Amino acid sequence: MLVARALAELRSHCTTLRERFGALTLVPTMGALHAGHMALLRAAAAREAGTVVSIFVNPLQFAASEDLTRYPRDEPGDLALLAAQGCHLAWLPDVATMYPPGDATSISVEGPALRWEGEARPGHFRGVATVCARLFAQVRPDRAYFGEKDWQQLQVVTRMAADLLLPLEIVGVPTVREPDGLALSSRNRFLTAAERQTAPMLSAALEAAAHKLAQRGGAGPVLADARANLLLAGFAVDYFALVDGPTLAPLPEARPGARLIAAARIGSVRLIDNIPA
Ligand code: PAJ
Repeated sequence: MLVARALAELRSHCTTLRERFGALTLVPTMGALHAGHMALLRAAAAREAGTVVSIFVNPLQFAASEDLTRYPRDEPGDLALLAAQGCHLAWLPDVATMYPPGDATSISVEGPALRWEGEARPGHFRGVATVCARLFAQVRPDRAYFGEKDWQQLQVVTRMAADLLLPLEIVGVPTVREPDGLALSSRNRFLTAAERQTAPMLSAALEAAAHKLAQRGGAGPVLADARANLLLAGFAVDYFALVDGPTLAPLPEARPGARLIAAARIGSVRLIDNIPA
């Protein structure tokens, strides 16, 4: 596996891979890789292309109140996993490469970015959109892969790529879960044993709500019930909502393309999850 840490290296490796495979795909990550990330890489590798995985813990998408230094990092472990999975190129820029001195441009998406995570984490999607636009400009991939696990992020990046006419396809990949339903996340390692036992209740609540919505009309009571149950189980619920998939606008009842989305804190860990409704 090739590894690039500077832009000149990246450009030369990308040229080589493009000549060899005809197309390039990018999987943007913040490292601490797990089976969810690997599913993105497998999806990227399923179509003939050179595969690039970026690892960059992006300071711009963390709010001042969020602990950037606590974000898990394991570069040797990540590189071993990527090599074993057949990744062609790992791109590991540092902060000065991504945000050089004098840097003065960021990308602010409205529409699908405004509510939910956008409200709970001010500035978060500006950071995500800005870093993704720069990663796309650096790697120039034909396709970029994102997890449905972060549903709103997938919609924000899709919207940005469409609005800016970026010459690439954004591909979503279904969420990878533990056998008990908990969505894989690098933050799960911070759950205590007791919290880990409770955590799958979030995905269970989403499943139960989807089932009820399929049977009756109005979403209001179903969503209120789900919030109350999670509260009783010890979660602090940021939101539990039924939304239109692409726009994230709240919906009064289920319809094709609707999504149930939720964010809830248990102890010091904030879990997010979503399923089709
Ligand atoms: P990170 O949290 O490392 O996630 C990288 C990619 O893996 C994202 O597209 C995310 O949705 C996907 N992913 C995470 N857990 C998953 C799971 N259980 N199943 C399927 N896919 C999963 O998301 C980010 O990094 C950053 O915001 C980034 C896009 C890299 C920009 O900095």
